[in-house]
Amino acid sequence: MQFELSHVDKVYVSSEENKVFGAKDVNISILEGDFLALVGPSGSGKTTILNLIAGLLLPTSGFLKHGGKDITSMTLEERTQHRLDYMGFVFQDYQLLPILTAAENVEFPLQLKGFDKKEIKQRVEWALAQVGLEGMGKRFPKQLSGGQQQRVSIARAIAGRPQLILADEPTANLDSKTAQEIIELFLKLNKDFKLTFIFSTHDQRLIDQVRTVLYVKDGQISEKKVHNV
Ligand SMILES: Nc1ncnc2c1ncn2[C@@H]1O[C@H](COP(=O)(O)OP(=O)(O)OP(=O)(O)O)[C@@H](O)[C@H]1O
Ligand SMILES: [Mg+2]
Repeated sequence: MQFELSHVDKVYVSSEENKVFGAKDVNISILEGDFLALVGPSGSGKTTILNLIAGLLLPTSGFLKHGGKDITSMTLEERTQHRLDYMGFVFQDYQLLPILTAAENVEFPLQLKGFDKKEIKQRVEWALAQVGLEGMGKRFPKQLSGGQQQRVSIARAIAGRPQLILADEPTANLDSKTAQEIIELFLKLNKDFKLTFIFSTHDQRLIDQVRTVLYVKDGQISEKKVHNV
């Protein structure tokens, strides 16, 4: 399903009553199966745009549409359900629960989605295998490297078979070799399952491998580059 941001503004009002445009007249059309990076300096608006797409923030003006459904007009409950149905999330700091094993971390959103025990087990095994961690489900996060922890978080994001993965600086805590491996895993999942990826990055070395690069500056999309990859 196509995702569309149309004339989206997000204005933050700080405590001093200063207005800051986190996003300014943002227009993005994301096709199913796209592989898209938001690139820009600190404070340019990357996280704001990702949170808007996730429905975690509502625009001050403009529209967000997913498969023709208007996210801006949904209730809070409808937006939460929409996110659970269609989206998976990957974070810079992995956000794994330290008291749960890798498998239990992957299980967590599947329980929220109401799958039965057998289905959950199958999906957890499938997801851990997809990220190259078969047999490691019983380990706790602290028994895994940073790259492996990020793989667990990717398994958690894909286990519910979403359409869209949103990732805010997913490689920022990783060394360049591990960052490259994570991007290769994203590319594999994108190719194998037509899974759409939208992520932010500072990392220039990764950008050439990304099909659609949107440069963000002062809350605006300043440039779009499409690579033939
Ligand atoms: N809750 C908030 N209240 C007020 N201003 C905010 C808020 N969140 C973000 N901003 C401002 O909006 C602008 C965009 O911030 P955003 O976090 O989207 O940038 P970013 O590109 O993700 O930066 P970074 O690379 O540092 O993560 C910045 O000027 C920031 O200070
Ligand atoms: Mg950010």
